[in-house]
Amino acid sequence: MTDTVISDPSMDDSAIGRARVAESADLAAYYEKLESFGAGALWTVANEIEPWYPQPKSIPMLWRYEDMRPLVVESASLVKGSDAGRRVVYLANEGRRDVAAAVGLLYSGIQIMNPGESMTAHRHAASALRFVMEGSGAWTIVNGDRLEVGPNDFAITPGGTWHEHGNSADDNFVIWQDGLDIPLINALDAGFYEVHPDLYQVPGKVVNTSILTHGSGVLKPAKRSWNKAYSPLLGYPWEQTREAVVNLSKVSEGTEHDGVIMEYVNPVTGGAVMPTMGAHMQMLAPGFTSKSHRHTGSVVYHVAEGSGHSIINGKRFDWKEHDIFVVPLWAWHEHHNDNQEKPAFLFSFNDFPMINSLALHAEEEFDSNGGHQDIG
Ligand SMILES: [Fe+2]
Ligand SMILES: [Fe+2]
Repeated sequence: MTDTVISDPSMDDSAIGRARVAESADLAAYYEKLESFGAGALWTVANEIEPWYPQPKSIPMLWRYEDMRPLVVESASLVKGSDAGRRVVYLANEGRRDVAAAVGLLYSGIQIMNPGESMTAHRHAASALRFVMEGSGAWTIVNGDRLEVGPNDFAITPGGTWHEHGNSADDNFVIWQDGLDIPLINALDAGFYEVHPDLYQVPGKVVNTSILTHGSGVLKPAKRSWNKAYSPLLGYPWEQTREAVVNLSKVSEGTEHDGVIMEYVNPVTGGAVMPTMGAHMQMLAPGFTSKSHRHTGSVVYHVAEGSGHSIINGKRFDWKEHDIFVVPLWAWHEHHNDNQEKPAFLFSFNDFPMINSLALHAEEEFDSNGGHQDIG
């Protein structure tokens, strides 16, 4: 647990090498002078801004779909889509309300669209992804490619692409989860936002063009040229995804921390789908119990199928379909499928591409107690 690290004597702030200047009246006066010139003494803030190990403000949280769904449905009659822009209930981490993050620098929300409703087109610097929760008839147009998506399908709306979406069904809501890197973009002060000059895009003739072009999984178009920073494949159907993970489970037990886990991939690079966010689908076999680990990078989980529980920093979170929970950076976590007959599937998205591109990856295994945390 974290306590074992805190008790490490080398992490004592009174040690040589850490800032340990005693306060005095002379220094207080000196600090005031510095402040008046727009400056400060590093040793007054050094230990706080350079912690021994990561100190995320986010806390582990779980949002139960049975709690959230009625609230989301209520918004459908309270607010017009055309007024809200996007009718979304966002998930506010108690430690990150200041930046509207679900965890770390990742935003997430649950969006609802009424039958026949459509939202106007816009684009922004932030990248977005969707994981469809319920309803038929969901569509999105990304840079002119109309994607039609159903429950548990995954779709991306990379930063800078024009996008709009809607619900073509006559009689059901569409509800999906949004994931964006808005808090990151804002932390970098790099946000742009633009409403489409015509309000709506004119879609290309063939629906799901990107999937038809890039989504076979085993073949690529000859002479494919693609130099953008994100995947040319914009949609990842659930059936194909589930089958791929189940197939892998036939030949591999997967990892001891995640079970059978696969990454949604940019078919051109083999890497993550977007420069700032990646996504996975993992299967926990019936009765599977993972061992704990912790790592840099924040993760938002969405229960695609099944039920079980996760232990995050010593706290147990029971989950079932369409519950959403978050694992803050450097939090110990392990996952358990409590069902002895059925597998559980967890969708997740993360900021790993950013962490990795900045060479900040770090990971630690929980090696005591057979790899399992005590529940505090
Ligand atoms: Fe958007
Ligand atoms: Fe993990």
